[in-house]
Amino acid sequence: MAESMSGLKRTHRCTEVSNQNVGQTVTVMGWVQKSRNKGGIIFVDLRDRSGILQIIFEEDKCGSDNFAKAEKLKSEFVIAVTGNVILRAGAVNKDLATGDIEVVAESLRILSEAETPPFPIEEHSKTREEVRLKYRPLDLRRPDLQRNLMLRSKVVGIIRNFLSEEGFLEIETPILNKSTPEGARDYLVPSRVHPGTFYALPQSPQIFKQLLMCSGYDRYYQVAKCFRDEDLRADRQPEFTQIDMELSFVDVEDVLDVNERLLARVFQESIGVEVPLPIQRMTWKEAMERFGSDKPDIRFGMELQNVTELVKDCGFGVFSGAAANGGSVRGINVKGQGGMPRKKIDALVEFAKGYGAKGLAYIAVQADGSFKSSFSKFMQEDEMKALVEALAGEPGDLLLFAADRDKIVFSVLGALRCEMAEQLGLVKKDDFRFLWVTEFPVFEWSDEEERYTAMHHPFTMPMDEDLELLDTDMGKARAKAYDIVLNGVELGGGSVRIHQDDVQEKMFGLLGFSKEEAYDRFGFMLNAFKYGVPPHAGLAFGLDRMIMLMTGAESIRDVIAFPKVKDASCLMSGAPDVVDHKQLEELCLEVRLPEKEAADKE
Ligand code: AMO
Ligand code: AMP
Repeated sequence: MAESMSGLKRTHRCTEVSNQNVGQTVTVMGWVQKSRNKGGIIFVDLRDRSGILQIIFEEDKCGSDNFAKAEKLKSEFVIAVTGNVILRAGAVNKDLATGDIEVVAESLRILSEAETPPFPIEEHSKTREEVRLKYRPLDLRRPDLQRNLMLRSKVVGIIRNFLSEEGFLEIETPILNKSTPEGARDYLVPSRVHPGTFYALPQSPQIFKQLLMCSGYDRYYQVAKCFRDEDLRADRQPEFTQIDMELSFVDVEDVLDVNERLLARVFQESIGVEVPLPIQRMTWKEAMERFGSDKPDIRFGMELQNVTELVKDCGFGVFSGAAANGGSVRGINVKGQGGMPRKKIDALVEFAKGYGAKGLAYIAVQADGSFKSSFSKFMQEDEMKALVEALAGEPGDLLLFAADRDKIVFSVLGALRCEMAEQLGLVKKDDFRFLWVTEFPVFEWSDEEERYTAMHHPFTMPMDEDLELLDTDMGKARAKAYDIVLNGVELGGGSVRIHQDDVQEKMFGLLGFSKEEAYDRFGFMLNAFKYGVPPHAGLAFGLDRMIMLMTGAESIRDVIAFPKVKDASCLMSGAPDVVDHKQLEELCLEVRLPEKEAADKE
């Protein structure tokens, strides 16, 4: 029978008890990690979110009633113990914060009994993630997840303090909205009062924060829930949290300055990592050329080399063809991997194909300086030598080449570079290398839609010196947009916003919105701007990603209390789920499943 808390008060969390408390009486509460009955003495490891404390029950110290209760204890029972702190009689446990002490129980209450959990509650669980997510409340008892969420709470606290000191106001913006412009699919919520209409959940507070600048709030921030219906990956969730901010009367420098100081404070105060300031900067163009990525991992080299000029007239059609078609040929040098077995190289080719490559050409420089290559038969000896030289190839190196449109070459080699570094163990999780990537293009060509779309969002300000390009060569125009990248992960991004009518109007035009469409979607912002709007800029961090990198977690699911899985469902609650017919009726909605789903349901 579960006992109550009546008359009982916890004095310490488990690991708050230390050798300073020897001789004192304490009351601790938590879960039984394990219980061992050694005849006349019962050892219990008591666990709470702080850690583990050893309790011992001896009949002559706690009385026969309590001892009888202690004999019944099983894993995950919730108990309260009052007892006396002593230095450990037995061996000191160096792995525990409380390893040199124990509590001799004087009384015990069983606050809740527990069935045997479906998996052991332990660090570094080997249980399948699907099972753990189904029983998430139990999973969340595990020390690694508890540490992650405690760190997350601490980080948010530090951010709040810092931004408050810097004059930012925390202001909430609505969840039930009109569609926002971040470019992912919206989650929609039907309106009962206005049948046939829908709210969109915010993909970000973008428009609202700009309106707050228009209203004179000057510096805003929010720990903001955002919702995006997009394909999920290890670092993406359908709902996630941004540290979102906006500042008035500023330009790029001001935003980068306050945010790098914020990062330095957060990393120093939460995990004791010094972030040297200023953070390194690189233009988008340089990042792509050198690393094939707009979020380069700069913990290791293996930079891309452009060899298009060298091979544009060579006899290998794949190379000369790419050059002739306006594409490029680039390569990376994987040091010391020239002896890679054929099978592994084939696996790399398959990997490259996953990123759009049609193939992957290689040269393995042998110990005697000769070459093993997939394309040497098409090349002259001196052409091969020149290629190897261009990549600073030495005996024992593996040179990998991709030839295609720039976009594909970058994506293939950018990914291969990271894959090789991972395979070769070149990256250390506790090495934190930040990078600002600046001067993003304003527009990005969409093969799917066959038109230019906004690379960031349609309110992003082009660079002053590139404004003219909007009329002449829009694809080349660069924006006052920046991302903060950490170890190859896009941690955050933002931009200076357009605050001039004429530029905004031109922008909408170039993005293919008519004036009516633009006003229909964003009129409430454009109209507000007519009444005086300060120049403004902002940025948003992905909080989940930040905590993932800080903790070294494999996935953002490990730093979110109740995450969703790849198909955007919650394994614990079963969301999303069907609803009552009555609810649908009130919303004037009818469900029409596509044939396949309907058949599956049958
Ligand atoms: P952006 O779309 O770049 O910018 O988002 C900012 C940051 O949010 C994180 N993020 C995500 N994290 C987890 N799951 C997702 N599905 C997900 N999508 C994005 C990333 C990203 O860098 N309103 C602009 C910001 C601005 O201009 O001020 C915005 O939302 O870490
Ligand atoms: P093939 O003549 O098609 O057998 O190609 C010869 C070599 O070139 C093989 O190793 C292919 O993987 C490689 N290859 C094919 N297409 C490309 C490409 N677009 N970029 C780089 N290498 C390629």
